[in-house]
Parts: sequence; C-alpha cells; structure tokens
Amino acid sequence: MSEHYENSGVDRLYSAVWGENIHYGVYETGDETIETATWAAKRLMAEAARLRPGERVLEVACGYGATARYLAEAYGVSVVASNISETQLARCREMAGGRALDDRVSFEYADFHDLPFPDESFDVWWCQESMVHSPDKERVLREAYRVLKPGGRAVISDHIFWHERLTPQERAAVEARYGMSNLSSPADYERHITDAGFTLVEHRDWQRHAALHRAKVLARLEQHMSEFAREMDAETLENNHRSWAHWADLAAEGKLSLDFYLAEKPAG
Ligand SMILES: C[S@@+](CC[C@H](N)C(=O)[O-])C[C@H]1O[C@@H](n2cnc3c(N)ncnc32)[C@H](O)[C@@H]1O
Repeated sequence: MSEHYENSGVDRLYSAVWGENIHYGVYETGDETIETATWAAKRLMAEAARLRPGERVLEVACGYGATARYLAEAYGVSVVASNISETQLARCREMAGGRALDDRVSFEYADFHDLPFPDESFDVWWCQESMVHSPDKERVLREAYRVLKPGGRAVISDHIFWHERLTPQERAAVEARYGMSNLSSPADYERHITDAGFTLVEHRDWQRHAALHRAKVLARLEQHMSEFAREMDAETLENNHRSWAHWADLAAEGKLSLDFYLAEKPAG
C-alpha cells in the first residue's frame, strides 16, 4: 500500500503534520511536542538495539530518511535506507544532499518482501511502523533473517490493530485502508518473529503512546484544515481526516496499539 504515500496531498499532510518522522512518539509526560516524542522513540529503539560504531544497518521502509541520518550521526553506523516510495526516496536524497554523511548513508529502492541484498550482509535490520502495510509479515521477517549476519538484530516498532477487539465495521475500515484482510495483533507479531527463525529478546507495549500520539496529530491536522484545503483536493483531505479521527478513537479505546520488538538471529 505504498501508493497511499505517492498521492501529493497525502505526502503534504504527513510532512506538514508529522514532520520528517512518519512514526509515533514515545511520551514521558504527555506534554511533549510531536517532534520531541518522535525523536525519543528513535533513541529508545537505538539504545535497545545496542548499536555499535561501524555496524551496517539496513533500514527498510525509511520514510523521509531522518532515522538513517540520525543513526549514522549519533551511533557511527553506516545505513542503507530503503523504501518502495519513489516520492519519499527523492525527498530523502534532497534532505541528505551535500551532508558529510554521504559515505555512510545511502538511499535505495527496495520492497521489504524481496530485498535486493546478499545473505548475511547486515548487523541490524530496522523497520519502524511499516510492517502494518504488509499482507505477508512472515515473508518480510524471513527476508530480514536472510540478510542479517548470525547474531544480527531485528529492531521493529509498529502500529498494530488488535483485530480481536474491532467491531465488524471498524475491521472493514482498517482492511479497506490497508488493502488486506489478514490483520495481525501484537501477539501475532511475536509468532511471526519466532516463525521466521528469530529469538524474541524484548517486546514492549507502548499502547499509551499510540493514544497520545494519534490525538496530537489529529489536533494538529484540525488546526490547519483551512490551509490544507487550499493546497489539496477536498476528497484527499476528507478521507484522511476521517481515517485519522477514526484511528484516534481506536487508539483511545485500546484497539490500536504501538509495540516495540527486538529480535536476534541465533549466532549459529
Ligand atoms: C508510516 S511510514 C513510516 C516511515 C518511516 N519508517 C518512519 O518511521 O518515518 C510507512 C513506510 O512504509 C513504506 N512501505 C510501504 N510498503 C512497503 C514495502 N512493500 N516495502 C518497503 N517499504 C514500504 C512506505 O513507503 C512508508 O515509507
């Protein structure tokens, strides 16, 4: 479902409301800005992954490339950041343009179901809030397993629908938005991870952060509705407003979660 992000109105909404990080934040007090909380989420994930200077990281579904630049800069790793969205890859290259990190960060087209990289070529595989788009999460994780070296780590966060808690109407709306009928709950993710061969090292339940974050992005969207209405077609704006409001309700009701997983490929 990357076509969703290729729509220029959707691209504008995400970059204006979410900023350069298209993922949820982790909030300590709840009063933080979206920006402070999203950077905190990256930092917590990187710390859990125990990144070491010189390691090779593959980031899949890299959004606007902010995480790749951050990891290279703050942790001294080299990052291949990949995405299926050409619109976002163009933005990644533009934002990184001319920075000193060019030799340690590259942006490449790759579908996370079928990676164009050799076996055992990375120390860390990083996927932040993107597996939700995959109708075949086990295949994504098998690819992660293949490209990781023995002892390599998979670092995953995702916004995950508790499909067991959704009403039939809610489920239909989620399935229509993501174009798939096989939703996975947080517990299903654990099974997908171990079925792909990984050892699950850690699973953190960040549900409360999902609720806070969805409320904050909805409020920011609503604050700027009249500006967006001048910049994009009414249908795109209405559809997105409707689904963002719906996701905020689902998160407030504990039906939309945010979960973090750290997994390891056995050293062999
Ligand atoms: C919610 S955004 C998250 C972006 C980024 N990880 C971040 O945290 O800012 C979801 C991303 O998944 C990407 N995506 C969707 N389907 C994909 C696929 N089959 N392979 C690779 N990336 C995909 C989209 O292009 C988009 O960049």
